[in-house]
This record gives sequence, structure tokens and C-alpha cells, in this order.
Amino acid sequence: MSAAAAAASAQLLVSDLLVCYWLWCVQLFRPKILICGASAYPRDFDYVRLRKVADAVGAFLMCDMAHVSGLVAAGELKSPFEHCHIVTTTTHKSLRGPRAGMIFFRRDPPKGAKGSDGKELERFNFEARINDSVFPSLQGGPHNNTIAAIAVQLKEVDTKEFKDYAKQVIANAQQLVSHSLPSTPIHSPRPLLIVSAHVLTSSSPL
Ligand SMILES: Cc1ncc(COP(=O)(O)O)c(C=O)c1O
Repeated sequence: MSAAAAAASAQLLVSDLLVCYWLWCVQLFRPKILICGASAYPRDFDYVRLRKVADAVGAFLMCDMAHVSGLVAAGELKSPFEHCHIVTTTTHKSLRGPRAGMIFFRRDPPKGAKGSDGKELERFNFEARINDSVFPSLQGGPHNNTIAAIAVQLKEVDTKEFKDYAKQVIANAQQLVSHSLPSTPIHSPRPLLIVSAHVLTSSSPL
């Protein structure tokens, strides 16, 4: 086995061990909400598995897809929407819009939620709680110019040019990572590089 393949296998083993530890923690602490998403994670998320873990302890699943929302919108990464109760994103990272944020939540309770005493259904009433906590709790008046800019950007996201850009982001990340861990598959735009092992200059061929 080459050194690069051994390094990639070791990395996978560590990530599997972390998942096992994480599952154990969830069973132990039984949180009310599980949050997935990252600033720097070189793989895609397994939302189906995360949702199963959340359901097992009666927790909500929330995804903060801030860094990758543009790639999700372009279909380059898996979508969290089918599996998460709440999805949040900033709009100024890979979505390429103005500095702002968006919160998505489900309006309908999931299939099978019991509503006999109303309590179970009330748990899934995200709309009032999220809206009230944003305004008046956290935010002042609307920034109409930013809201308009988000609308323009979302229209741009729905174009071939944007989809090509998202593909190129992934290709650039793959190219970068091939320099560091040649056998590691990369699915996200945030390769974690150990740059101390390389001497990279602006003229180094990647
Ligand atoms: C996962 C994640 N969510 C949200 C944010 C918030 O972004 P900002 O500080 O640009 O508003 C960051 C910032 O890097 C982030 O990494």
C-alpha cells in the first residue's frame, strides 16, 4: 500500500471512530437538537444517517450549510432539505450573494407525528418560534437593499453559469488536494491541507 493510500485509510478510520464516539454521546446526553455543518470538512454529509440518529433520541436535525449552500443549490453536493427540520445558510459564501443569512424550516409536521394532545404537533411549529426569535428578539428593521440583492443572486444561482462555477470550485479543490493526499476523494470546497509538508510558491505547479 502506498504511503498516500495508507494516509487516506487512516483518515477514514479516524472519521469512523469519531462517528462512533459521537453516536455514543448522543445516546448519553439525548440533546434536543443536533446541528450538522462545518467551516472545514472535506466530505459531504450523510443526512440520512444523521436524521436516523436524531430520530432515535427525539431530537431535531438542523443543518448549517453556510459554506456549501452554493454547491448544494447547484446540485454538486447532497441536499439537506429532505432530511433536516431546519436549514440555515449565510448568503455571502459559495452562494456568492450579499452578506446576509437565510433560515428555512418545515411548515408541515413530519408524517407520523402524533397530534392527539397537540403537544407533539406543537413541537414542530417552527414558524412562530423562529420568526419571533429573529424579529423582534435579535434583529432590527429589514435591510431592503440586501433582501433585493439576495433575490437577484438566487435568480443567478439558477443559471448554467452558476452551475459551471460550482463545478469549477469542486475541481479546484480536487486539484489542490491531489497535491497533498492524492487518493483522498474530495466532495467539498474546503480541503484540509497540511501545508507545512510542502513548499508551495505561486509558481509551484499544482
Ligand atoms: C459553518 C458556518 N456557519 C456560519 C458562519 C457565519 O458566517 P459569517 O461570520 O460570515 O457571518 C460561518 C463562518 O465562517 C461558518 O463557518
